[in-house]
Amino acid sequence: MAIERTFSIIKPDAVSATKIGAVISKLETGGLRVIASRMVHLTGDQARRFYAVHKDRPFYGALVKFMTEGPIVVQVLEGENAIARNREVMGATNPAEAADGTIRKELGTNIERNAVHGSDGPDTARQEIAFFFPECDLPPAE
Ligand code: RTP
Ligand code: MG
Repeated sequence: MAIERTFSIIKPDAVSATKIGAVISKLETGGLRVIASRMVHLTGDQARRFYAVHKDRPFYGALVKFMTEGPIVVQVLEGENAIARNREVMGATNPAEAADGTIRKELGTNIERNAVHGSDGPDTARQEIAFFFPECDLPPAE
């Protein structure tokens, strides 16, 4: 297994519900280390660019509205197999289908308001890290 970096967002629903600590606790317990973090309130333009891959999906407009409704925490996570590990700790997109113990099962509300985002592969991890943390766009140290 390799040490990887991935990109994570604590979405507006979890931030407004004061669940930042709960999310980070799950990530850390899952073997992921926060190596960069800050709070931002996305503009519509930033949210549209970040989620451009979904621009033709029916939920795109609602997703952009949701992601701009309040502050979010953007973070870079590092650890063994971090990309897949983060997706496991997050759980399925729809909280109703997420496994017990996952972040989305415990903190998500519905398929849109699902508490967290995580990169879905090495290319998106690199792109998403560079979008918010250009200074972290480097291979891991080991
Ligand atoms: P994410 O990108 O946020 O980590 O989530 P994901 O890979 O599990 O899911 P994805 O298919 O990439 O969808 C991105 C986000 O769009 C919202 N969504 N809404 N209303 C809907 O049917 C619907 N489907 C997806 C969710 O916030 C999802 O996380
Ligand atoms: Mg996705």
